[in-house]
Amino acid sequence: MKILLLGSGGREHALAWKIAQSEKVTKLYIAPGNAGTSEVGENVPLSVCDFEAIAAFVLENEVSMVVVGPEDPLVKGVYDYFKGNEQLKHIAVIAPSRDAAQLEGSKSFAKEFMQRHNIPTAAYRAFDGTQIQEAYSFLETLKAPYVLKADGLCAGKGVLIVPTLEEAKQQLKEMFSGMFGNSSATVVIEEFLDGIECSVFVLTDGKDYVILPEAKDYKRIGEGNTGLNTGGMGSISPVPFATKEWMQKVEDRIIRPTVEGLVADNLLYKGFIFFGLINVEGEPMVIEYNARMGDPETESVMLRLKGDIVELFEKVDAGTLAGTTVEFDERTAVCVMLVSGGYPEAYDKGYEITGLENRGDSILFHAGTAMKDGKVVTAGGRVIAVCSYGANRDEALAQSFKVAENIKYDKKYFRGDIGFDL
Ligand code: AMP
Ligand code: GLY
Repeated sequence: MKILLLGSGGREHALAWKIAQSEKVTKLYIAPGNAGTSEVGENVPLSVCDFEAIAAFVLENEVSMVVVGPEDPLVKGVYDYFKGNEQLKHIAVIAPSRDAAQLEGSKSFAKEFMQRHNIPTAAYRAFDGTQIQEAYSFLETLKAPYVLKADGLCAGKGVLIVPTLEEAKQQLKEMFSGMFGNSSATVVIEEFLDGIECSVFVLTDGKDYVILPEAKDYKRIGEGNTGLNTGGMGSISPVPFATKEWMQKVEDRIIRPTVEGLVADNLLYKGFIFFGLINVEGEPMVIEYNARMGDPETESVMLRLKGDIVELFEKVDAGTLAGTTVEFDERTAVCVMLVSGGYPEAYDKGYEITGLENRGDSILFHAGTAMKDGKVVTAGGRVIAVCSYGANRDEALAQSFKVAENIKYDKKYFRGDIGFDL
């Protein structure tokens, strides 16, 4: 089978690595991919939202399955584009429909969904710019800190956690005035939840699901979880507090009601659901949904997922996931992200990366790299995910930190404290 994977980050390199291990795959294309994905498949210079070009490529190359990495094409309706076209509709697309992707594309949609299906989440209200006085009044009923969320997609930057009421009102006004463009025309204001976060992933065929290994990611740039939010500076799987009992609560109160809710609301979904959870005094609550895998969680999750992922994708497409079990590697998997100095603010690109061969037993997933004159160079904020197995967390982390030192490029930075809080 020929597969096309859309995306170009560390998540996609990890997915490509896993897909390429399947005996079912005769050819793997990645669009647009990066220097790392070209080691496990063939990169194709297509943009992930250029559906026409993607469709033409798929038909010309007899691709029979498209796997979607990032959120943009999901929210723009890549699934519907294929299924609505006579020539394309036989192709398996591992993705939610555009309507279902609103679980990620609109925070107010997601909150309404959770409320309708009794899924535990923070109390909230959504407001638009005409309701600013009402929004102020609602803020006054809440306790500090205040959580303000732009309704639409903001590349992970649309959530503000503000310490005082006065600042919250000021920020809210700025959000309505276009702080995040059209994405903050509607703002969700919600109760602050105090706890530790965990990412849980399932693959669903729209009515049944399999639960994948959970992971914890480290979003802040600075050690001790300080400084600006990034796409993610590292991840660990398994998560110690995600015990069997806790995961049973997650399945009973969150996962099953979500999938049943999709069916009840007629939301077609054939792909990954990412549950951003928070553990509040032992009780799991939903912070957000994403309609895709997490990055850098995928880098750890794929290390621990045993078996043939393409077989799972085939069942997702056919609607035959019921009764499927997946096995996890018992070892701990970790990911330490090497980034460009300056990230998540301005940074330079194009620095040569050396030492990639000194990876020992680690697995390197490229995030932002490119080939230039036969050399691998930095091409993004997040550059390389250094992933390792270990009998325990300390062993896996020690391995990744050693390799992180061995890899060299100008202005390299990484967090040396991934896992510190577990
Ligand atoms: P989101 O984009 O919804 O994942 O939010 C980004 C980050 O903001 C989350 O990973 C949490 O760390 C934090 N966050 C979002 N909502 C809340 C909340 N209600 N209470 C506490 N922290 C939150
Ligand atoms: N690691 C969080 C995300 O992918 O959104």
